[in-house]
Amino acid sequence: MKIAIASDHGGFHLKQAILNFLEEKEYLYQDFGCYSTDSVDFPEYARLVSKEVVQNQSLGILCCGTGIGMSIAANKVHGVRASVVSDPFSAIMTRKHNNSNIICLGERTLGKDLALLLLDLWLSTEFEGGRHQKRLEKIE
Ligand code: RB5
Repeated sequence: MKIAIASDHGGFHLKQAILNFLEEKEYLYQDFGCYSTDSVDFPEYARLVSKEVVQNQSLGILCCGTGIGMSIAANKVHGVRASVVSDPFSAIMTRKHNNSNIICLGERTLGKDLALLLLDLWLSTEFEGGRHQKRLEKIE
């Protein structure tokens, strides 16, 4: 499974740090941009990653200034469960209970080390299924 990743200009530096992390941990990924700090519109990048995640039933990472704009845009795509995460408990629970398939991280709200810790927790936690599955079906 390839992890789909993108950022806007506000999340560009965090995305670069995450790419290094993914390389070190030997995750497969596809980088959908952006490729510099030139100003871009985050919904375009959220859409690219969201489409990829839904089509391939994979996971995605979106970075912007706060993670919020990316999550709002990503959740417009049917089948996406995107979560802005800023604490370790939420990083775990949004996988265990919500089976989130996209994590949204804010470069301007999180330090790099915290962002990478949250991502590591999120990637290594499995969905519990069971009673949570029917709730996800109700969202659909
Ligand atoms: C860009 O300045 C900023 O608005 C964007 O990165 C993001 O934080 C939006 O939610």
